[in-house]
Order: sequence, then C-alpha cells, then structure tokens
Amino acid sequence: MILGHDIDDNSTQTSQKFRNIKVIKLINPVTIYFIVLFGVIVYGSFRYSTTYIPFYQRNIESYAAHSLVKVGCVIGANNNDETKYYVNRTEELARNGSKFILWSEAIAYINDTTQYNELEQGIKNISQMYNTYIGFTYSDASSSNGKIYNKLTVMSPNGDILINYAKSNLVPFVENKVTAGPEILQTNITSDFGTIGGAICFDYNFPRLISQASKNNVDFMIQPSDTWVSSYRYVN
Ligand SMILES: *[C@@H]1O[C@H](CO)[C@@H](O)[C@H](O)[C@H]1NC(C)=O
Ligand SMILES: *[C@@H]1O[C@H](CO)[C@@H](O)[C@H](O)[C@H]1NC(C)=O
Ligand SMILES: *[C@@H]1O[C@H](CO)[C@@H](O)[C@H](O)[C@H]1NC(C)=O
Ligand SMILES: *[C@@H]1O[C@H](CO)[C@@H](O)[C@H](O)[C@H]1NC(C)=O
Ligand SMILES: *[C@@H]1O[C@H](CO)[C@@H](O)[C@H](O)[C@H]1NC(C)=O
Repeated sequence: MILGHDIDDNSTQTSQKFRNIKVIKLINPVTIYFIVLFGVIVYGSFRYSTTYIPFYQRNIESYAAHSLVKVGCVIGANNNDETKYYVNRTEELARNGSKFILWSEAIAYINDTTQYNELEQGIKNISQMYNTYIGFTYSDASSSNGKIYNKLTVMSPNGDILINYAKSNLVPFVENKVTAGPEILQTNITSDFGTIGGAICFDYNFPRLISQASKNNVDFMIQPSDTWVSSYRYVN
C-alpha cells in the first residue's frame, strides 16, 4: 500500500510538471507580443473602418450648417475622367459660395500641354469670377520626357498658382508608372487662410515631409486623397 501511494504521488508530480512546462511554453514573451499585436491590429482596423465608425466620409452638411460650410470637395467618379465635368462641378460649388474647393486625388488625366492649359484656364476663370481658392488634381502625362506625375495645383482668387506639387511618396505597386516629385512641402501665404500647405494621400504617412508643415508654420493643410471614395460625387 505504501509503495502504491508512493507511485501515485510520483505520477501526479510528473504530470503536474508536464503541465507546467506546457503552460510556460504557451505563455511566453513572444506569444504575448503577438497576442497584443493582434489586438492592436484588430482594434485599429475597426477604428479605421468607416463601415462601423463614419469619419471623414460623412457629408459635411449632415453635421454643419450650410451657411457655415465654406469649403467644397469635388470627388472623382470611377467611370468618368472628363475634365470638363469636374470643372463644371467646381463652378457649381463656387457659385454656391465655397471659398476653398479641393479635388480628390488625380481626378483629371492630362496627356499634353493643350489639355493642361485648358484645365488651368477653366479653373482660373472660376477662381477669379467667384473669388475662390481651388486645389485641382491630375495625372500629369504632359511632360516631354514621357514621365507621369501625380499632381496637386492650387490657384488663388487672383489666378496665381500658389502650389504646384508632384506627389513624392508613391504607393508601392499601385503607382509603379508614376514618377515621384521632390520631397519638399510646398507652402504659400494667403490673405484668407494664412499659410497653406499641401501634400497628397500617402504622403501624410511620412514625417520627413509632413513635419515640414510645422517648420513652415502652416495654418491650413490640404490633402487630396483617393480614399475619399463615396456614393456622392461632391459635397459642399
Ligand atoms: C454643367 O452643369 C450644369 C448643371 O449644373 C448643366 O446644366 C450643364 O449642362 C453642365 N455643362 C457641362 C459642359 O457639362
Ligand atoms: C490620354 O491618353 C490615353 C492613352 O494615350 C487615353 O486613353 C486617354 O483617353 C487620354 N485622355 C485624355 C483626357 O485625352
Ligand atoms: C475662360 O473665360 C474666357 C473669358 O471669360 C472664355 O473665353 C474662356 O472660354 C473661358 N475658358 C474656359 C476653359 O472656361
Ligand atoms: C507663392 O505664390 C506666388 C503667387 O501668388 C508665386 O509667385 C510664388 O512662386 C509662390 N511661392 C512658392 C514658394 O511657391
Ligand atoms: C447649391 O445650393 C443649393 C441651394 O442651397 C442646393 O440646392 C444645391 O444642391 C447646391 N449645389 C451644390 C453643388 O452644392
């Protein structure tokens, strides 16, 4: 009996040891790291998802009084690359009193300088007629070297070009055909908005570019982005 007891005790101890080893193996710094990382990514994705938590993709009129809204956005529609259409939408917003109108990323496609001049002239007409600032965007394939740039040009109410920027941080693979511009944040002083600055979409992930905004005391940063996609084409 005594012997039997001894054996029993031994086997319990052994299996307990064995269990401890298993527990130690599962809960170690590496697995804890991955569990925390997983939690952060899931939570981050949830916060980022506009399906559950609407953020910038809400129509501004749903939370701001129409009389207070002085900015307007023109949003690219997948099935439409007609420059005239977007210039027309821009005029509609200007007529309604927008003081700053911004296009989402790379709306127009500019093949040559004739097309560019037409776009610039159309924007200039609207800026001057309605005394408004317009940030317009285009894939610029007009340069003679055959390169394509992802551009943001901002025009003042006087018809002067304040910012003429080519996206400098390109999305890998997606923008393989695009050439990056210099990584210098463009700013300019305006009488209505203070110092304005602009960069495009993915650029905002890069502190070495965006931190130039604080060095230049920028008051108003604009960000045309492809992630604006929504069911309405433009808001005011
Ligand atoms: C511009 O939009 C107006 C409606 O706001 C429309 O009547 C007109 O035909 C449009 N013009 C062009 C060139 O698309
Ligand atoms: C620019 O050229 C491409 C191909 O060369 C063509 O598919 C596109 O329709 C042109 N865009 C404009 C606005 O002329
Ligand atoms: C700009 O305005 C001028 C004169 O008002 C007009 O002749 C021209 O057609 C306009 N250009 C565009 C692209 O709307
Ligand atoms: C600022 O805008 C003016 C036009 O108002 C332009 O002549 C000047 O080149 C711009 N400055 C920069 C740094 O782009
Ligand atoms: C312009 O204002 C009118 C009247 O408030 C509104 O019905 C119309 O939708 C507005 N147009 C745009 C493009 O915001």
